[in-house]
Amino acid sequence: MARLFFALWPDEDAAQSLAALSQSLATQLEGRPVPRERIHLTLAFLGELAAARVEQAMRAAESTRPRAFEVVLDQVGSFRAAGVAWAGCKHVPPGLKALETRLAKALRSRDFALEERPFAAHVTVARKISRALERASMPPVVWHARQYTLVRSEPGTGRYTVLETWPLG
Ligand code: 2AM
Repeated sequence: MARLFFALWPDEDAAQSLAALSQSLATQLEGRPVPRERIHLTLAFLGELAAARVEQAMRAAESTRPRAFEVVLDQVGSFRAAGVAWAGCKHVPPGLKALETRLAKALRSRDFALEERPFAAHVTVARKISRALERASMPPVVWHARQYTLVRSEPGTGRYTVLETWPLG
């Protein structure tokens, strides 16, 4: 069984900026950078799903009618327990919060068990870091989110496959 999650992908410019940040933080914190093509913002993590449930997750996504919005990543920090460094939002854009809330509601109503922790919008840029990173401001990385995706992380390789994409209106 594969692991699935809903995510936003940065546009080319933002991906480039985040990949550069990834390189520098991985060096600074003695961790591993996240390859540019894997850099994303997770909206909801579903975990392992049987094939029949994938269809239901897609229906949940179709039931949300999200609007487009700008993602503004303007701070860095780390999650010590997870050993990751991230780029995140000082203030979660209302459009992003609305999308995450609607998606979580639609998924929970179909009995998907999501994390209970409040949504911490972040893009992981380094993994297996050896040192923590104090939360700090950074020059904003901005992209206009026009779509979101359901992604499968392949067992073994960990490669990401986009299963479906929905527009942000
Ligand atoms: P992360 O970037 O903070 O590690 C695929 O694993 C995506 O789902 C990642 O973006 C990961 O977040 C996110 N995710 C959320 N909860 C997870 C969990 N319990 N296990 C693995 N990944 C999780």
